[in-house]
Amino acid sequence: MEKIKLGSNIFIPMPVTLLGINIGGKANFMALGWVSRLNSTPPLIGAAINKLHYSFEGIEENETFSINIPSKDMVKETDYCGLVSGRETDKSKLFNVFYGKLETVPMIEECPITMECKLVDIHEMPSNELLIGEIVESYIGKEYLKGDVPDIKKIAPLLLTMPDNNYWTLGENIGKAWDAGKELKLEGDENEYI
Ligand SMILES: Cc1cc2nc3c(=O)[nH]c(=O)nc-3n(C[C@H](O)[C@H](O)[C@H](O)COP(=O)(O)O)c2cc1C
Repeated sequence: MEKIKLGSNIFIPMPVTLLGINIGGKANFMALGWVSRLNSTPPLIGAAINKLHYSFEGIEENETFSINIPSKDMVKETDYCGLVSGRETDKSKLFNVFYGKLETVPMIEECPITMECKLVDIHEMPSNELLIGEIVESYIGKEYLKGDVPDIKKIAPLLLTMPDNNYWTLGENIGKAWDAGKELKLEGDENEYI
């Protein structure tokens, strides 16, 4: 395969989430693609947000935030939260908002999955701040469960690709994780899979 250089400003496909924060007692939501689970126990999640965003003011105020997973039918509302700032536009009425254990964390009723987090650390970077939050509780709409686990097909999360700036949704299931690779065996691999 012939390879050409693509430069250093490259992105991985990202999940599209909505970060919820109370600012001055009012809910605000911003689109967030730079988000990842960071630690298993305790369950930590990281969100890289530009320190110039209005949302950042809320983090200093409450030290709590939510991560909400919208489904594909929420693409317009999600994009809107990434286009306009709460500094000029009140985004609190865009969704039905509910509160959980932490009381200062606005979560979105319409999102299949939401999680409330308390800030444990902020890692400062040149333009963004990495908010590290401990997930205190998560919520799922009953209709998005298959047995007792989230049904990703029903949730229909959004993916973002950059720099073409497109939203995508889920394709087909193509195998089990921690399992599909068992069909391969390199020389010297003594693993016996059950
Ligand atoms: C799909 C999408 C993903 C985004 N992801 C991020 C992100 O990960 N971090 C960030 O700082 N801004 C991100 N943004 C930009 C903010 O959502 C946007 O600037 C928003 O208006 C900030 O809102 P606020 O000023 O009310 O906080 C994203 C925007 C879009 C459309």
